[in-house]
Amino acid sequence: MTRFAYVNGRYEHHDMAAVSIEDRGYQFADGVYEVVAIWKGSAVDLKPHMDRLERSMSELEFRNTPERSSLGVIAKEVVRVNRVQTGILYIQINRGTAPRNHLFPAGEINCSVVMTVRHGLGPSVSEIQNGVTLKVQDDQRWQRRDIKSIGLLANVLAKQAAKSSGAFEALLIDPDGTVTESSAANVWLVDQDGTLVTRPLGSEILGGITRARVMSIASDAGYSTKEAVFTLDEVLSAREVFLTGTTTFVLPVVNVDHAVIANGHPGNTSCDLRDRYQSYLASLKPRPSWHVSE
Ligand code: PDD
Repeated sequence: MTRFAYVNGRYEHHDMAAVSIEDRGYQFADGVYEVVAIWKGSAVDLKPHMDRLERSMSELEFRNTPERSSLGVIAKEVVRVNRVQTGILYIQINRGTAPRNHLFPAGEINCSVVMTVRHGLGPSVSEIQNGVTLKVQDDQRWQRRDIKSIGLLANVLAKQAAKSSGAFEALLIDPDGTVTESSAANVWLVDQDGTLVTRPLGSEILGGITRARVMSIASDAGYSTKEAVFTLDEVLSAREVFLTGTTTFVLPVVNVDHAVIANGHPGNTSCDLRDRYQSYLASLKPRPSWHVSE
């Protein structure tokens, strides 16, 4: 099926769509992005994704940013023309196109905007049922991981190293020995008291939209939750470990650097939250219009 991408005001064939070689995303990774799940043809948690996108742009002092309402219209159209029912919407906004110069461009240039979609969403059935393995890696990213920057080289290297060693994902550790997150998901553990623990928001991690959703689903279901910093030792001695993210949903972790977590099988809490998150998705109604502010 033909795929279409949105690039700076035009809907183009996906394979032909391109930005200028002087786009600052290409030159400096001077851009931000969002990955939004599409479910029954509608965007999941679009408002918090848009909030985070606007925050990322504002933290990087982007000027002439696109209106939120226009982004909503484009997103809906890209999903519609590609007939995506279940998939991923990718939004990238860069500081714009200008002759290469580290300084922000002078004058009134517009941000560049790209949106693409992909069919299919979520981890494989075997990953969901059996859980996944992680490989410990030093966190080599920059100090502003709360900004969803397209500068992902350290994430790419960490994920590839994990994959090359046979693991599904990287478990990233800061120089102080604390766990930050994985290359593309937030990390949680269930401690020996049954409390769900995940790292507090701050510049060390991305504030995951799925993290927030799972936090609220877990509280509603009566679980005790805590935001706290934890170490690799605490991960290894946890009752359960799991990841959350737009592309991973709630994904149980059963092994870290060849050390088995608990009995090596996805734990009850992880499985319950995984099911509850999937029920949350299943409960969403297809929306005729895409409201970016609700
Ligand atoms: N990544 N932490 C990092 C470093 C991430 O890249 C992501 C998401 C998350 C989870 O955030 P959310 O729940 O909002 O998806 C946490 C996306 C999926 C990606 O880069 O493809």
